[in-house]
Amino acid sequence: MAGDAKFLLWLLLLSISSLCFGSELDIQCLKSIQQSVIDPRGELKSSWNFSDGTRGFLCTFTGVRCWNPEENRVLSLLLGNLGLEGPFPQGLQNCESINSLDLSSNNFSGPIPPDISQQMPYLSSLDLSNNSFSGEIPSDISNMTYLNLLNLQHNQFSGQIPEQFDLLTRLTTFSVADNLLSGTIPYALRNLSASNFVGNKELCGSPLDDCSRRRRWRIHIRMHRINDLSSIGAAVGFVVGFVVAFYFPHCFIFSERLRAYVVLLHLL
Ligand SMILES: *[C@@H]1O[C@H](CO)[C@@H](O)[C@H](O)[C@H]1NC(C)=O
Ligand SMILES: *[C@@H]1O[C@H](CO)[C@@H](O)[C@H](O)[C@H]1NC(C)=O
Ligand SMILES: *[C@@H]1O[C@H](CO)[C@@H](O)[C@H](O)[C@H]1NC(C)=O
Ligand SMILES: *[C@@H]1O[C@H](CO)[C@@H](O)[C@H](O)[C@H]1NC(C)=O
Ligand SMILES: *[C@@H]1O[C@H](CO)[C@@H](O)[C@H](O)[C@H]1NC(C)=O
Repeated sequence: MAGDAKFLLWLLLLSISSLCFGSELDIQCLKSIQQSVIDPRGELKSSWNFSDGTRGFLCTFTGVRCWNPEENRVLSLLLGNLGLEGPFPQGLQNCESINSLDLSSNNFSGPIPPDISQQMPYLSSLDLSNNSFSGEIPSDISNMTYLNLLNLQHNQFSGQIPEQFDLLTRLTTFSVADNLLSGTIPYALRNLSASNFVGNKELCGSPLDDCSRRRRWRIHIRMHRINDLSSIGAAVGFVVGFVVAFYFPHCFIFSERLRAYVVLLHLL
């Protein structure tokens, strides 16, 4: 009986402490995001007021969705199209239960943190589209095994799509259109439509053009140029030769046959 009571008390304390720590960390998370982000329109400045401190007060902030409106535990951050700028927001590792992050259609820049999966291991949705993010797409994203949406289109990502993305078996929505990517498209992404990959000059392989075909094309074009150049060269050579032979036939005095040819041309 005493043991049971002690167990219940322990359970109660545990749940309270986890609740409180959870909230405290989530508050820290949003505070550091607010501090690290440039917010020219003051969207977060006006709405994210931390002086309230009542139960679930975070859940009324612009772009913040909680697991439960009574509890400061962030489920998703939907910060699309708020005119935000600066680097990838800091402190997200403190939003321990975050499931969805949308930073689309802002003007964020710089790289995605290379340890993003450690910051947000349970994300199922990551939308960074229509910003100015750059650098390589971190292979560490492949550690985010719950991802089913990954939108990276309309940025300035360069390098290759990490081949480890083959591990993202739950992906249903994926786009890297309109970036600066190169190389081959990982096998697991080949069933997606080509529109999710267009606008990258150097990206190849199904569903885009075959890489070897593309290389052959490039060689073909180069050969074409050489051919063009050599035919121009031949034409110029012919004209110069003709003019020289016409006006200075004595240069060819030693070649009787050529001389006959020049005389013939003379007559024409
Ligand atoms: C936050 O809210 C308190 C009242 O709850 C108010 O006095 C304070 O000015 C607000 N701060 C900002 C930055 O709006
Ligand atoms: C891209 O973001 C800008 C704001 O930064 C917005 O005006 C524009 O509509 C967005 N475009 C798309 C295709 O979402
Ligand atoms: C986005 O930020 C870059 C610099 O980081 C700036 O050059 C560009 O004009 C900005 N674009 C918009 C639409 O604000
Ligand atoms: C996945 O995470 C582990 C542990 O943080 C790391 O060592 C590994 O490099 C990551 N995988 C990739 C493909 O980055
Ligand atoms: C692509 O789709 C086909 C049939 O729709 C399926 O058999 C194949 O396993 C898929 N491949 C990948 C890599 O998902």
